[in-house]
Amino acid sequence: MSDLSGRTTIVVGASRGLGRGIATALAEAGAPVIAVSRTAAAFPEIGNGSGSIQPEIADAGEATVPATLIDRYEPRNIILVAGATPHMRPLRQHTWETFSVNWHTDVRITFHWLREILLTSLRPGSRVVVFSSGAAIAGSPLSGGYAGTNATQKIITCYAQGEADQLGLDITFTTILPRMSPDTELGRSAAHAYASAAGMSIEDFLKQFGPTLTPEIAGNAVADLVRAEAGTVAPAYLLTGAGLKKLA
Ligand SMILES: NC(=O)c1ccc[n+]([C@@H]2O[C@H](COP(=O)([O-])OP(=O)(O)OC[C@H]3O[C@@H](n4cnc5c(N)ncnc54)[C@H](OP(=O)(O)O)[C@@H]3O)[C@@H](O)[C@H]2O)c1
Repeated sequence: MSDLSGRTTIVVGASRGLGRGIATALAEAGAPVIAVSRTAAAFPEIGNGSGSIQPEIADAGEATVPATLIDRYEPRNIILVAGATPHMRPLRQHTWETFSVNWHTDVRITFHWLREILLTSLRPGSRVVVFSSGAAIAGSPLSGGYAGTNATQKIITCYAQGEADQLGLDITFTTILPRMSPDTELGRSAAHAYASAAGMSIEDFLKQFGPTLTPEIAGNAVADLVRAEAGTVAPAYLLTGAGLKKLA
C-alpha cells in the first residue's frame, strides 16, 4: 500500500461528520485534500507534515461547481459525502417538501459530480467514492424519501462505472453504505428518532448495531480503499464500526 502524496483528493461535504473524518484520514495518509462545504470549517494541522487540508467553500449541488473544482485542482480521487439531514417523522407527517429534501441535495450532488467526472475524464487510475446509506438496503421508515435517494446514489454510481468502462476510462467507482453513526449531526438525529419510536434510550438502541461507527473509522476505511489495488475494489460496501464489508 502506497501513501497518497501527490494524489489530490476532493472531499465533498468535509466540514463536519463523516466527511471531516475522511478528509483528516486522507491528509494524514499524505494526500493534498480539498475540503468542500458551504460553511467554513477549521481543520487541525496534519501532524506528519506530508498531507494537507485546504477548505473550499462551495455549494456542491450547483451544476457548475464540479467542473470548476475539477478544472482547478485536477484531482486523482473524489469522495462524495455531502448530504442533507432528513426530517425524521412517519410518512403521513411528511409534506412533499420534507419527503424530497434528499433528492434535491444528495442525489443532485451525486448526479452533477458523476456526470462531470465522466465528461472531463479524470486521469487513468482515478478513484470515485460515493457515500450512500445502509438505509438503501434496510429502508428507513422515519426519513421520508431518504432510503430511496440512497438507493439511487448507489444505482447511478454503478451506471457511471458502466459508462466509464464503455468509454475506456480507467476510473474506479464504488459506493459506501454506512450504518448509523451517532457521532454526526445526521446520525444523531436518526438515532434519536428511532430510539424514541422504540421507547428506548439512544444508548440501548445503538447497542444492537455493535461497535459504533465514528468519523475516524470512516476516514481510515476510505484511506484504505483508495490505496487498494483497483481490481480488488467492489462496486459497493457496507460500513460499520467494524469497518468495510463487500456487498454482493
Ligand atoms: N451519519 C450517519 O449515521 C450516516 C448513516 C448512513 C449514511 N450516511 C451518509 O453519509 C453522508 C455524510 O453524513 P454525515 O452524518 O457526516 O452528515 P453531516 O454531519 O450532516 O455532514 C454533512 C456534510 O455535507 C456538507 N454539505 C451538505 N450539503 C452540501 C452542499 N450542498 N455542498 C457542499 N457541502 C454540503 C455539510 O457541510 P455544510 O453544511 O457546511 O455545507 C457537511 O460537511 C450523507 O450522505 C449521509 O446520508 C450517514
